[in-house]
Amino acid sequence: MPLDPSTLKIDLYPTEVLRTKADPVELTDETRAVALRMIDLMHSAEGIGLAAPQVGLTWRLFVVHVPHNRDDEDTPPNPDLPSTCAEPLVFFNPEITETSKDLEPLEEGCLSLPGINGEVRRPSTITVRATDLNNNTFELKATGLLARCIQHENDHLDGVLIIDKMPQLARMKNRTKIKALEKSAKRR
Ligand code: NI
Repeated sequence: MPLDPSTLKIDLYPTEVLRTKADPVELTDETRAVALRMIDLMHSAEGIGLAAPQVGLTWRLFVVHVPHNRDDEDTPPNPDLPSTCAEPLVFFNPEITETSKDLEPLEEGCLSLPGINGEVRRPSTITVRATDLNNNTFELKATGLLARCIQHENDHLDGVLIIDKMPQLARMKNRTKIKALEKSAKRR
């Protein structure tokens, strides 16, 4: 039975699929339709990225869209590297092949962790290789918010969430909200 992409919705923590390592996914009419649906869900939720496990699928697939006005204004623009993307980007079977040695802190949120925010340290520049919607392999060197967003979404494919990477103090600050999500899941 093919999956109906219109039935997909964003799942919240602590649903188990968010903690599952995702598997490589083939590009088919079905998986392409899911990617397009994920772009719609991301836009409706006003997010800048969404990974397949967040819609209940253990697939190595995510979408990102970091519009220019959402970029980190403290970062000086580097003309060689994109820090935003004009159009939504689709990543099938992504692999981060290079990361810079620095670690930059920035507050992050996640559509599967509503109301929860905390600082996450990540390399500021990355290279990622993936397959796009047209089955073409591409390589992208990114910086700024785009690099951060790609790393955040890629973490989802390995079952990693921002609450795992926040400093202790941020986790403490969000403790009540995390507990409330866990509790409401038991009622669902
Ligand atoms: Ni997320």
